[in-house]
This record gives sequence, structure tokens and C-alpha cells, in this order.
Amino acid sequence: MKVVVVGASGTMGSLVCNQLGERGVQVVEAHRGNGVDAQTGAGLAAAVAGADVVVDCLNNITQSASKAKEFFGTAARNIAEAARAAGARVVCLSISNAADPAVNRRMGYYQGKAEQEAVYREILGDRVTFVRTTQWFELADTLSDRMSVGPLAVMPHMVTAPLAASDGAVVIADAVLGTAHQGKAVVEVRGPAQMDLIDVARASRKARGVSGAVIPIRFGGKALRDGSLIPDPADVVTPMTLQQWLAGR
Ligand SMILES: NC(=O)c1ccc[n+]([C@@H]2O[C@H](COP(=O)([O-])OP(=O)(O)OC[C@H]3O[C@@H](n4cnc5c(N)ncnc54)[C@H](OP(=O)(O)O)[C@@H]3O)[C@@H](O)[C@H]2O)c1
Repeated sequence: MKVVVVGASGTMGSLVCNQLGERGVQVVEAHRGNGVDAQTGAGLAAAVAGADVVVDCLNNITQSASKAKEFFGTAARNIAEAARAAGARVVCLSISNAADPAVNRRMGYYQGKAEQEAVYREILGDRVTFVRTTQWFELADTLSDRMSVGPLAVMPHMVTAPLAASDGAVVIADAVLGTAHQGKAVVEVRGPAQMDLIDVARASRKARGVSGAVIPIRFGGKALRDGSLIPDPADVVTPMTLQQWLAGR
């Protein structure tokens, strides 16, 4: 079996490559660093030729709705057309409830993810599976490290049921290989406990010995704070707790 992972050098893409490699799959790693550009389409057809499955783990961080829709929509179109030409299925990593207009109204990035899902569905129909996860523990570090002012970190409240990205990679590999979730159009994945990502960031900074407070801000609308980010019901509740994730780093 040949699987192409687009976004292979990223946080989730690299974990998915490792998971699939450990399970004996021939993995093609695709990202701009090795000549595959999902936006322009450069190198895509050659990478996808002969593949059974293409996994989309792409990312482009922007809060501009127009830029997010342009990036995720164009890339999804290029990948879907390359996959269709090769006769391959697609497994696309997405975010739980991000396609819901009530959730993404004030989140340009989530509107981009909604566009990505819509384009794949339009071109591939039932040849695409979405693995939608809640926010990862890793995102708390990304947000608090990016938005720091001196020793202070500023980040939005996000009430979610976060998971370890490595647990998400197991679910994606299962969906790719059909060892679970076969025939499902959407696999909803959440972590074991509800919490605010602010508290994950504080615990993580303490464990890493990073000084300075984490200051919560209101951003992105009330859906980020009222539990709307958590899928109900979820198909998979991942096992790793925050304490285990902190201890394992
Ligand atoms: N963080 C969360 O909590 C969370 C939760 C649920 C779902 N997700 C979703 O998970 C996905 C992956 O996120 P991540 O944090 O793992 O991403 P990431 O670490 O930012 O990695 C992004 C990957 O995309 C590649 N890439 C970017 N532009 C490209 C292009 N034009 N052509 C080809 N490759 C390109 C990058 O490699 P190059 O720069 O070398 O091209 C890199 O391999 C995102 O779509 C995100 O929405 C995230």
C-alpha cells in the first residue's frame, strides 16, 4: 500500500508518517521542502501517482477568512483532482465543529477549514474521509509561545476536550488503513477531559520552566468558550491525559 502524506513535515503530518511507517506502509512525504506545493500544484501529480490514499495534513495559519478559504480551498481542489486521477482515496484532517457556521462566524481560519471540507466533498463524494479532532495539547504551546509580550503570554479561552497529537495520528492511520472507521464519512475525535486551553498552557509552561503569566483574552466568539468545540457524540475518545502528555515530553 502506498500512502502520500501532504504536510508531512508538520506536527501531525510527521506523526502520521511515523504511525504508517511502523505499520509497514510505503509512505511518500510531501511538502514544499521536498518539491510538492499543494497551492500551485507543483509536484503533486508525480507524488500522488500510484497512491492508494492521500492524507491531507496541510496547514497555513491565518485569521483572514479570505486568505484561509483561498489556501485551504485551492489546496483541496488540487489534491482532490490529483487523487481522483490516481484513483486514490483522501483522508483529510479537520477540526471538530469548525465547519459549523455558528462556531466559525468569527473565526476566519475555521471558515477556511469549512471551505476545505466542502471542496473535497464536491469533487470526491464518498472517496474522502474527514478525521475531525478537537484541539491538541500542543496547540496551547503554539498559541502561548506565539502571542507573548516579554514574559507574558496572551491567548484566547478555548473550552475543549484536548488530545495528544500522537493519539490523533493513531486514529488517522486507522482511517487510512481501514482497520477502524471503515465506510465513515466523518470520524469525530476528542480527548479524555473537558478543559480550557489556557489551563493547558499554564501547566505546560510550568512543566517547561517558562516564567510569566498566561493572560486570557476573549477572541473568536462565544462558541470557543461554551463547549461548542467538543463533538457530541464522539467516535473516539483518546486515552492520553494532560498529566501523561506533560510527563512524556
Ligand atoms: N492544532 C490543533 O489543535 C488542530 C486540531 C485539529 C485539526 N488541526 C488541523 O491539523 C492540520 C495540520 O496542522 P499542523 O499543526 O500539524 O500543521 P503544521 O505543523 O503547521 O504543518 C503544516 C505542514 O503543511 C506543509 N505545507 C504548508 N503549505 C504547503 C503547501 N503550499 N504545499 C505543500 N505543503 C505545505 C508544511 O510544510 P512546508 O512548509 O515544507 O511546505 C508542513 O508540513 C491543520 O489543517 C489544522 O487545521 C489542528
